[in-house]
Amino acid sequence: MTEQSNWGFETKQIHVGGEPDPTTGARAVPIYQTTSYQFRDTEHAANLFGLAEVGNIYTRIMNPTQAALEERINALEGGCTTAIGIPGTLVVASGQSAATLALLTLCESGDHVVASPSLYGGTYNLLHYTMPKLGIEVTFVDDPDDLAQWAAHVKDNTKAFFGEVLANPRNNMFDITGVAGVAHDNGIPLMVDNTVPTPYLVRPLELGADIVLHSLTKFCGGHGTSIGGAIVDGGTFDYAASGRFPNFTEPDPSYHGLAYFPALGHGAFALKARVQMLRDLGMAISPFNAFLILQGLETLSLRMERHFANAQAVAEFLDAHDQVENVQFAGLPSSPWYERTQEYGGGRGAGSIVAFDVKGGVDAGKRFVEGCELHSHVANIGDVRSLVIHPASTTHSQLSPEEQVQSGVGPGLIRLSVGLETLSDIIADLETAFAAV
Ligand SMILES: Cc1ncc(COP(=O)(O)O)c(C=O)c1O
Repeated sequence: MTEQSNWGFETKQIHVGGEPDPTTGARAVPIYQTTSYQFRDTEHAANLFGLAEVGNIYTRIMNPTQAALEERINALEGGCTTAIGIPGTLVVASGQSAATLALLTLCESGDHVVASPSLYGGTYNLLHYTMPKLGIEVTFVDDPDDLAQWAAHVKDNTKAFFGEVLANPRNNMFDITGVAGVAHDNGIPLMVDNTVPTPYLVRPLELGADIVLHSLTKFCGGHGTSIGGAIVDGGTFDYAASGRFPNFTEPDPSYHGLAYFPALGHGAFALKARVQMLRDLGMAISPFNAFLILQGLETLSLRMERHFANAQAVAEFLDAHDQVENVQFAGLPSSPWYERTQEYGGGRGAGSIVAFDVKGGVDAGKRFVEGCELHSHVANIGDVRSLVIHPASTTHSQLSPEEQVQSGVGPGLIRLSVGLETLSDIIADLETAFAAV
């Protein structure tokens, strides 16, 4: 049989972490709905707490259903294996908790982050409002494609660069390789959110990113049933050589005086995130949600292929429509990010979020959303169902008009998450909505 590390994407998405249960033989990954695990004796308990032995202690920090999901995501994204043998991926309660926990693993009060402004509205709020309240300053570049701006914003206390791959809803493909180059020249790790492309389209760690985040709520789960998030550590960033990370290289009094790096080697980020931050902040995923997301992952490649094909056809339909002002979709050759998307995604597709401005501004936008019948009007993306929303009055409503424009959200912008229904039915529903406008 082929070595697991050499399996193709489709084999990994089904089999990694999914061995038959050793006790019962259950073929699907069981839902280990337990809070805690019986220690063999006091020595075993002490070893687990001291990381001398790997094993389950308490479901906030580790659980076998979570662990299966972590192993599978780690394999799909190309994350590292940590020094204690577990995958360099941590799954948590939501995409928002993944971003929060990952940033707080790198940064403390007094630190600084440079970020792209093209972000999901919730992430923008986290960086723009909540991180500064914790004493972490965030500078947004004006144009994420201008590498000189990233370099110009670096300060002595900068601990991370942050961006979103195929940003929601502007559909700009983040220059992972370029921004990673600037980050590494300055001893700073690059963290990117890969929710919209999924590892089936883009694997940021192979392109130079150091840490990858996911909202598993979206395409990875794929069925609109469960909230979850993931943090994947590529294991390549050298926290000692950087000189910027005493929180990695000096003893942590809260964890047996451990200096995470270099003691835990590559993968130290993922372990610090788990044993320090997840322990203290506690945003654990439930075993049931981990189970549901595992079911979704098993068909990720198949769903994404159809998502991409339907979205491409919808974008071309909208681009030719006389009630549409412009379409934001990186699969159209007119998009400034077309070539980069082809390069990063190997021509497989350009995601399935299609955004467009309907002629007639805000009122026309609202009438369009209300005119849809097959499309569900919900604040979500990445469902099997086609979804529609007016971002300016919902997902991006906390942003100022200038910030909305920077995020690619005009007043009449409509965001579609193109689902897996029969293409002609999706297009017929859009025609109905245009008629309503
Ligand atoms: C790109 C992106 N990242 C992160 C999130 C936040 O994820 P969650 O809703 O799972 O907290 C979202 C949610 O819409 C998103 O679209």
